[in-house]
Amino acid sequence: MTNDSILSLTAFDDDALDKAFAALEQQAREAAAKIDGPEAVEAFRLEWLGRKQGRLTGVSGRWLKSAPAEAKKALGVRFNALKAKVEELLELAAGAGPNDAALKAEAIDITLPGTRRLTGAEHPITRTLNEIVSVFAALGYSVGVGPEVETDFYNFESMNFPPGHPARDTQDTLVVASQERRPQRDRLLLRTHTSPVQMRTMEQQPPPVRIVIPGKVHRNDAADATHSPIFHQVEGLCVDAHITFSDLKGTLDHAMKALFGSAVKTRFFPSFFPFTEPSADVQISCIFCGGKGCRKCKQSGWIELLGCGMVDPAVFAFAAEKQPAYDPTKVSGFAFGMGVERIAMMKYGISEIGQFYAGDVRFLGQFA
Ligand code: PHE
Repeated sequence: MTNDSILSLTAFDDDALDKAFAALEQQAREAAAKIDGPEAVEAFRLEWLGRKQGRLTGVSGRWLKSAPAEAKKALGVRFNALKAKVEELLELAAGAGPNDAALKAEAIDITLPGTRRLTGAEHPITRTLNEIVSVFAALGYSVGVGPEVETDFYNFESMNFPPGHPARDTQDTLVVASQERRPQRDRLLLRTHTSPVQMRTMEQQPPPVRIVIPGKVHRNDAADATHSPIFHQVEGLCVDAHITFSDLKGTLDHAMKALFGSAVKTRFFPSFFPFTEPSADVQISCIFCGGKGCRKCKQSGWIELLGCGMVDPAVFAFAAEKQPAYDPTKVSGFAFGMGVERIAMMKYGISEIGQFYAGDVRFLGQFA
């Protein structure tokens, strides 16, 4: 038995006692250091603290009882210290040591869920813009961009709004100050539509052209529930030989079905834009009532969504100054322009345009 390993004490002076107890403590430490699991903890407890056959019981039986009366006190003090030490070793090994609270506070609980980092989400305007672009990308259109600070020439003149033409009043905008000494066509302004990129594109490449142009535009419009002085458009331009109004109708009918669902119908209403002739406003059957008539469509069953038309020969004439292939007698084409906010508001049932710009995560989070 283990108790046999406890030698009899022969001397009882302090030195001899210190040595004997130090040797035992050392054995206990070594044994505790080897503990490698719950079973070993229990074995250690039995070996050292077991009531009947534990080593400490053996120590008390052999040393305390046989000690001369005057050595009993010194022995008892050391025995209690050893017992406390062994108990501490056991507690530590069992994972419930006296420092446990401190250790726990420092410990990392790997079973807890990690810190969740919020990922950003695409803004509903960006999302809608990308969606519109991808509908046309699937038809073979490429994507173009142009400057937001534009010249009078590209924004107006080349789009067939001559200087002083009343159509300019419908697209009032901010102009860069102190440009009076420049010729009017070079003066800078914040573009009022994405149409100037039609001209920039045609100047850069001969026909055929199939391009969509997403971007931000500016107008002197009072903000209300559906208007903002800054908003977004997607422009489209298709130029080739023999492009007809039927191509325009088919393309936009397809695009509206792709954006709003195949049940949607389109109709084309005569309209006016200086840079298209003929021009049309495209209406879609009301996506809220299916065309029966409701508050959203003002009981008409139709909702006006975008402008379009056949490229005006006067526009081709401007393009032909840089790219002669845009000969108005040889090419034809169509153009269209749609408001991204308006489409996003319809798709997501948003009634206040200002929500897009307020930056409220409770609103934006719904698009995550
Ligand atoms: N640029 C026009 C607008 O902003 C929209 C449009 C584009 C109309 C292309 C016809 C063709 O109102």
